[in-house]
Amino acid sequence: MRRLGLGLGLTVLGLLLTACGPKPAPPRTAAQLAALAPADGRLAALYETSCKGCHANPAAGAPLVGDKAAWSPRLNRGLPVLVSHVVTGYKGMPPGGQCAACSADDYTALVKFMSEQEEGQ
Ligand code: HEC
Repeated sequence: MRRLGLGLGLTVLGLLLTACGPKPAPPRTAAQLAALAPADGRLAALYETSCKGCHANPAAGAPLVGDKAAWSPRLNRGLPVLVSHVVTGYKGMPPGGQCAACSADDYTALVKFMSEQEEGQ
């Protein structure tokens, strides 16, 4: 009887472990969001002084850097549409993203950076 109990216990434990599987990572904290930056130094500087103020700030209402759930429906409209929205502005998003020094290529790279950062990395 004791053996059966132990076996059952292990089975339940096994089921629990497999049921957990790969869990979606918890949302990043403000400190984790603030630590994310593009690998390229020049791009990182542009990001730091513009996009980051809103896109790493949970209170800003902007899709957060690395928030796949927030970016995927937007990405479905196509990267060029998103980049054009950065240039022209979009709802709460100011035209040019407050980055006077950004080129069109910079905007594309910044959008890719913010939307492709895996959560939990
Ligand atoms: C002053 C705050 C602010 C700054 C600075 C800012 N954004 Fe945004 N951004 C927003 C907000 C708010 C939204 C959400 C708009 C909405 O969908 O309601 C947004 C949305 C976006 C979107 C999605 C647009 C779409 O079509 O869904 C992209 C792409 C984007 N921002 C890129 C950038 C980039 C790149 C920078 C830096 C160059 C930047 N943003 C700087 C506030 C900002």
